[in-house]
Amino acid sequence: MRTLIKDTVKKIGETVEVMGWVDSRRDHGKLIFIDLRDRTGIIQTVFFPKKDGDNSVYELAKNLRNEWVVKLTGKISERPASMVNEEIVTGTVEMQVEGLEILNESLTPPIDVTTDGKDINEDIRMKYRYLDLRRPRMAKNMRNRAKTFKFFRDFLAANDFTEVETPVLTKSTPEGARDYLVPSRVYPGNFYALPQSPQQYKQLLMAAGLERYYQFAKCFRDEDTRGDRQPEFTQLDLEMSFVNREDVMEMIEGALIKFVQEVYPQKKIQQMPFPKITYKEAMEKYGTDRPDIRENKEDPNLLAFCWVIDFPFFEKADEGGWTFTHNPFSAAKPEFMEDLMNKKNIPEILTTQYDIVLNGFEIGGGSIRNHQSAALRKVFEIMGYAEERISNNFGHMLEAFDYGTPPHGGLAFGFDRLMMILENEPNIREVMAFPKTGDGRDFMMSAPAEVEEKQLKELHLKIQK
Ligand code: AMO
Repeated sequence: MRTLIKDTVKKIGETVEVMGWVDSRRDHGKLIFIDLRDRTGIIQTVFFPKKDGDNSVYELAKNLRNEWVVKLTGKISERPASMVNEEIVTGTVEMQVEGLEILNESLTPPIDVTTDGKDINEDIRMKYRYLDLRRPRMAKNMRNRAKTFKFFRDFLAANDFTEVETPVLTKSTPEGARDYLVPSRVYPGNFYALPQSPQQYKQLLMAAGLERYYQFAKCFRDEDTRGDRQPEFTQLDLEMSFVNREDVMEMIEGALIKFVQEVYPQKKIQQMPFPKITYKEAMEKYGTDRPDIRENKEDPNLLAFCWVIDFPFFEKADEGGWTFTHNPFSAAKPEFMEDLMNKKNIPEILTTQYDIVLNGFEIGGGSIRNHQSAALRKVFEIMGYAEERISNNFGHMLEAFDYGTPPHGGLAFGFDRLMMILENEPNIREVMAFPKTGDGRDFMMSAPAEVEEKQLKELHLKIQK
């Protein structure tokens, strides 16, 4: 039966079987030392020639190279005090190997997977991502990401939220970025859009009476990639009914504090409750709407959360006229609803939008929504949308609101950004299993790629080169 490497420390004097990858090999005189790695750690193993008898295991071990996959049987023994390695969990023991089975060989890896990998060309890391993910830093990031998923799932379930999946093949919605489009085979010239966020669906779930929804949602935005931006990313998306701005902020803040205390206890939150900064103050004092308010920027364990609130609802659009600053579905702050309804003092109208900022990164945002069709309609009118455009694009929302949609609001976290900061990584690619490169490519799968003429024909598409 297989023993996990981390458990070998409890098996001194016993003969056990371990399986994993050859992390490194050193030869000392006649001894061969193999550091064996599995998902739980690394153990030093020793192969030694026998003076008499069967030497086949030792002879076979001479072939072993990095990243070969092996099954080893042998006795776990305590290391002499002088040989203890404090760096690894199994540093007090080693294995005297008696049996070796090679489960698979490996070509010489094109990248070293035993270092932190930060000095390796990223294109090569991405092409061989399945090797890159073997490095302990990446394995740790994946595991902590999973722990974070689990914390929020458990927390939200305990608070009576229902997890609901919403479609990935949907319709273009205005979230501020360009859509990824998917051509329809059945309806020539028609396209699905991949969601920039589940914004409309989650509001329709409030219309459906679900009251508390969340989901880990894949979002797609065709915009230029940056360190904290990917074309495809994950949101922790949620929405609640019968709440005001403070209710949502309080719920989120409580979740974040409990999360840090339980999953990242080594981290220190700079200030609780989280400071609330208005957009105006943020711009005046920090010159940005995502201020980094850390008192000590050298401290990798310091988390400085703050809320940014009271954003202007509208700004001048490039083409003239007005556009929304954050989300067209937001409500104005209660004291500005009258102006919104009368389409008056437009630049002064403040929205219920709240952004949550951590160490200078916007890790999430949300708002209280307009839940009455007349108010949502005013937003579109202020932006100069013609009646036809309003009903074509948002008719379903306006209609839903006319069937007893409750007041509601919510928020979405950029889940990858949150993980990036917690893991002190310089970009979100380091906390995603299979991210795209800076220019939007997947070198491992070679995507995007051309498709066969037959596929294009079925989709009624002709490529203009
Ligand atoms: P917003 O567009 O602000 O709001 O997105 C929410 C959060 O998602 C993260 N984010 C991204 N992360 C990685 N790559 C990207 N390209 C990217 N774009 C955004 C950010 C951001 O704060 N539906 C609304 C939420 C709501 O109102 O409830 C929305 O999507 O951390």
